[in-house]
Amino acid sequence: MKSDSAAIKKKYDRIAPYFEGLEAVMEGLFFKNWRKRLWAKVDGYHILEVGVGTGKNFDFYPAGARITAIDFSREMLKQADHKKARKNTSVELNLMDVQSLSFADNSFDTVIGSFVFCSVPLPVKGLKELYRVCKPGGQILLLEHVLSSNAMLAKVMTLINPAVVALFGANINRNTVKNVKACGFASVRVDERSGDIIKLIEARK
Ligand SMILES: C[S@@+](CC[C@H](N)C(=O)[O-])C[C@H]1O[C@@H](n2cnc3c(N)ncnc32)[C@H](O)[C@@H]1O
Repeated sequence: MKSDSAAIKKKYDRIAPYFEGLEAVMEGLFFKNWRKRLWAKVDGYHILEVGVGTGKNFDFYPAGARITAIDFSREMLKQADHKKARKNTSVELNLMDVQSLSFADNSFDTVIGSFVFCSVPLPVKGLKELYRVCKPGGQILLLEHVLSSNAMLAKVMTLINPAVVALFGANINRNTVKNVKACGFASVRVDERSGDIIKLIEARK
């Protein structure tokens, strides 16, 4: 796990200054609307955002909430910190691995993340950490790209996955819905507006 984590972290450290530029077209066309839908579902006072990246979700943070955010890439966090100052965003940023969170059990009302579990080396380990730090009755909200259910497309995605990981540190062949279901939540559902590849996943502890 250590060497995988170190390699992925290094990739994000390297692309951090260009990350928003690389995603600009997809962001404008698709991601922005999905972020709105994701954050509209947040409830409770204390929110944890995992894999905060450069802070692309800052604009959607609910007013009046206490937000804690983590990422394991120092350089991505540095970008988030600049954005925090620029936008005067109220968020506590921490350098931390989602696979071993240093928060106490049952700490947060909502735990949320966008496009994170494609790159976490041991995704089920990370998802179990989300379960652990979420309060009983609290929720996990995830926006993730997953492997297509179309057999032909899934084959292509699996074939080119090693190249995508090598370039960007992200896997395009994960089954994150199945992974969430393996973590003991009382309920797991996928928002009906989700497509074949982009999924908005809601789980209750
Ligand atoms: C594709 S970026 C998405 C960033 C942001 N959530 C967004 O929507 O733009 C994935 C982020 O997850 C972070 N990440 C990946 N694995 C992680 C881990 N094990 N612990 C903490 N952060 C992680 C990366 O450093 C990166 O910032």
